[in-house]
This record gives sequence, C-alpha cells and structure tokens, in this order.
Amino acid sequence: MSHTEPAALVVLVSGSGTNLQALLDACADPAYGARVVAVGADRHGIEGLARAERAGVPTFALQVKDFDSREEWDAALAGAVAAYDPDIIVSAGFMKLLGSTFLALYGGKVVNTHPALSPSFPGMRGPADALAYGVKVTGATLFVVDPGIDTGPIVAQAAVEVVDGDTEETLHERIKVAERTMLVDSVGRMAREGFVVEGRRVRFGGLVD
Ligand code: GRF
Repeated sequence: MSHTEPAALVVLVSGSGTNLQALLDACADPAYGARVVAVGADRHGIEGLARAERAGVPTFALQVKDFDSREEWDAALAGAVAAYDPDIIVSAGFMKLLGSTFLALYGGKVVNTHPALSPSFPGMRGPADALAYGVKVTGATLFVVDPGIDTGPIVAQAAVEVVDGDTEETLHERIKVAERTMLVDSVGRMAREGFVVEGRRVRFGGLVD
C-alpha cells in the first residue's frame, strides 16, 4: 500500500451485503482512499454478489460442499483472493471461519465485523444472545481476524442501546446502521493511514510512502 494508489479491498460476504454496499458507496469518492477489487462469497445467489455485479466489481463464489475438505476449501478461497492482490480483506457478514492456509497468507490484513461488543457474545447469534442476556448496551466490533471465533485484536467498536420491545430483528437492524458507519470510517482510515497491530492493541498509522 502507498499514499499514491487507493488500497485494494477484497470483501467477503454471505448474505444481503449492506456492509459491502456501504463500502462500495464510500469507494465512489476518490478521497476515500480504497477501491473494492473483488467480492467473494461462500454461496451463490445472494444479494451481496448482486450488489457487486451491479457495481461492476468481479465476483467469485466457493462453496464448502464442493470441496473434499474444509482445508481444501480454505486453500481455494485463499487462491481466489490472491488473484486480486488485496491490501485489506474485509469479511463483512461472511459466515465462515477463515482457516490456517488463508490466515497464513493474509493474517494481519483481514478484518471482520461482528454485531456485538467483543468480548461479549461471540459467534453467529450476537444480537439474539445480547437480547437474551438482557444487556442494555450492545453494538458492533471490527477486529483483525485471528484463528478464534470473534477474538482478534479490536480496530473499532460502536455502541447501540437495547430498547424495550426490541426483537432480534429490530436490534440487529439498529446495530447494522452503526456497524456500517464504523466499518466505512475504519476501513477508510486503514486504507489512508495504514494500521499497526501490537499484541491486542490496534492503532491507525504507520503507512509509509
Ligand atoms: C452483519 O451484522 C454482520 O456483522 C453479521 O451479519 C450481518 C451482515 O449484514 N455477521 P450484511 O450482509 O452486510 O447486510
């Protein structure tokens, strides 16, 4: 990455792709400092891929069931991403854990957004688990992916109030509004300023010409 060219982003999705759309919209401004060079998915026929296609961004989809093992799928995913030589990989609603081959190649360059305030409520049911626990504040976390489940060093967090009458759906939708803003702000800073991971601490900066 350098100051002269926009950072190349590969975005991984599994669903509606509203976080992806927020990044695509932000990248339309050259001052944002990044562009989405490809969108990958673990399934076909999702709105996330359709959003990429409408934006003229190349896509690829690799399903675990089409491979003999999870490891082979992970290696194929790493290969598909490598074809686009990304500076940053954004897992935005990608519902698969990245494996050892992928992280050996891209560890430290992959961020994931999770709809809860880490370290609370890791896993697939962040909003539902927060609601069931009865917390009054939850939110979203952007972190640098490590081998654990939503355990990596934290880049940014956004807090969201839980209100009376919330359902999993209403809470998750409100979290996603905050999540998209956090994601766009943070990825833009990572692209323009760089970022440094020191143990569990992540700070922006360190990009050299
Ligand atoms: C986001 O809340 C993400 O954190 C979670 O699933 C949601 C994906 O939303 N894992 P979208 O596909 O970006 O609309």
